[in-house]
Amino acid sequence: MPRKTRIHAATALCMLSALGTSALAEPGPLASYDPPLDPAFAKLIASADLDAGARYFDRKCAQCHDGHKSGSNFKGPHLWNVMGRMAATREGFEFSPAMKAVKKKWTYATLNYFLEETARAVPEREMNLVGITDDATRANLIAYLRTLGDAPAALP
Ligand code: HEC
Repeated sequence: MPRKTRIHAATALCMLSALGTSALAEPGPLASYDPPLDPAFAKLIASADLDAGARYFDRKCAQCHDGHKSGSNFKGPHLWNVMGRMAATREGFEFSPAMKAVKKKWTYATLNYFLEETARAVPEREMNLVGITDDATRANLIAYLRTLGDAPAALP
């Protein structure tokens, strides 16, 4: 029955390509996934509370990260100008192979994805922080990170 076999082969191909497309869109490591920026989250960033973001940074990030322009690497890389920079490229800091494999710029979308659940974004990362589940807290922090730069990116 050659005709029937041909139909089956075509159906199987269709199913395979459909599976392939959805697998690529599945949230996974940043190295192979481009996270979208949810419009609702973009609004939260645009109307964020910068002081709250700064206080959060001081409490949760500053013990490892220096955010001052004249600062330097510490336990974590210097974060001045982090927005728009390729991941794992801050000079003089020894990044993990996992962070080097990201090969993407830090944007609102990638920072948000990373900071929400660091193990999902960079599974073998060497940053001892689980993530920030609260959207408003993350938006305040990311809006604050945006200000740590010579030419802050446009608001989303
Ligand atoms: C316990 C120390 C520690 C804490 C706390 C910490 N980090 Fe990190 N961070 C690191 C280390 C170490 C790396 C490098 C990770 C690697 O190479 O896998 C890193 C990497 C990063 C990067 C990637 C930088 C680059 O140049 O590619 C960002 C962004 C970042 N951290 C933001 C934050 C923010 C925001 C907070 C606070 C919510 C935070 N980190 C809290 C240690 C820390």
